[in-house]
Amino acid sequence: MSDSKPTPQAGDVTSFRKLSHLEICLHQPVEAHTSPHWEDFQFVHRAIPDLDWEEIVTTTQVFGKKLSLPFMAAAMTGGHPEVRPINEAIARVAEKIKIGMGVGSERAAIEKNHPYITESFQVVRSLAPTALIIGNLGAAQFSRKGGFGVKEAKAAVSLIGADVLAVHVNPAQEVVQVEGDNFFHHFFTQVSDMADQLNVPVILKEVGSGFAREEAAKVDASPLAGIDVGGLGGTSWIGVEALRAEQKNDTFHANLGRLFWDWGIPTAISLVEVRSATNKTVIATGGVRNGLDAAKAIALGADIVGMALPLLKPAQQGDDALLGFIQHFERELRTAMFLTGCRTLSDLRQAALVVTGLSRDWLSQRGIALAMPWRK
Ligand SMILES: Cc1cc2nc3c(=O)[nH]c(=O)nc-3n(C[C@H](O)[C@H](O)[C@H](O)COP(=O)(O)O)c2cc1C
Repeated sequence: MSDSKPTPQAGDVTSFRKLSHLEICLHQPVEAHTSPHWEDFQFVHRAIPDLDWEEIVTTTQVFGKKLSLPFMAAAMTGGHPEVRPINEAIARVAEKIKIGMGVGSERAAIEKNHPYITESFQVVRSLAPTALIIGNLGAAQFSRKGGFGVKEAKAAVSLIGADVLAVHVNPAQEVVQVEGDNFFHHFFTQVSDMADQLNVPVILKEVGSGFAREEAAKVDASPLAGIDVGGLGGTSWIGVEALRAEQKNDTFHANLGRLFWDWGIPTAISLVEVRSATNKTVIATGGVRNGLDAAKAIALGADIVGMALPLLKPAQQGDDALLGFIQHFERELRTAMFLTGCRTLSDLRQAALVVTGLSRDWLSQRGIALAMPWRK
């Protein structure tokens, strides 16, 4: 890596857009006004747990990497020198406590291979040499004529020594974004072909509107390795774009974003939709806010969960704040396991769950068995 500190130049549009997204997420309310619907799924309390707290094991293995917790820092950032300290803190903590980490979209680095853009990504693998690291590119870039293909995907993997590449699918965000790319026609074929030729697993990732079982079935039948459900109820990327449009006095996109702010499939419901259609790896992001949410996500079929927004401020404050946050999360997860009598995450996948509210109506109308037979 170079020691020089070059400054970003005007014209590095993708890099600067990422920075404005981060500023908005740090300083404005960007979450959905509706919940991920974890509250519709209730564990049955076990008054005679028949296990000691110390016996609880939260380790798991995903994409060939052993994790101490079923947890990753979801894709957030990279591509600008100002965000480097955030990636550094997350990478150090990921390596120290063996959790996963996704980097933010590497598009800027692929479009412009300049050290001031690439270094904030590369630092991740150098500080986390053994952690599960997930790269990131956008579906819209694969859909364009002459857009991204295997070459760019390989570059994104090699930039950070990624174990997995996530392709984010964000039609709702793009359509509300002032300068959005509304090209999604060919992406699935393109990305499936790319996944066939890449030497690491490729997953699809939503960013806040979730996946239905129809899309999960397509992934199941493709060379793709899994899905990050990225459901509704956490950070609203439609909302972030509405706020950006307001800053730019673009009333049309601002109003569109306000109208569709809460568009999508709530994360808990999306997880059930997805799990009803595939046995591939499933990550739950979108409004996971504590270890109890995570326990429900695991019980509903997630292999691991991811958090983005809640980690942003602790990561900015530094390693200790981030570690403290994750320790709290661990204690909450263990408590849920203790009170359901689950020693391992596999036990949690079979813990009794009662389905109520919107989720019950939704699953019934969609013809998805409330007993979730794949859980047994
Ligand atoms: C500041 C910030 C930047 C993000 N950038 C990306 C990105 O570049 N690529 C991506 O796939 N998801 C990105 N996301 C989405 C998250 O990975 C995650 O799917 C989403 O925010 C839902 O999780 P949350 O409710 O815990 O924030 C970003 C999220 C935040 C908060």
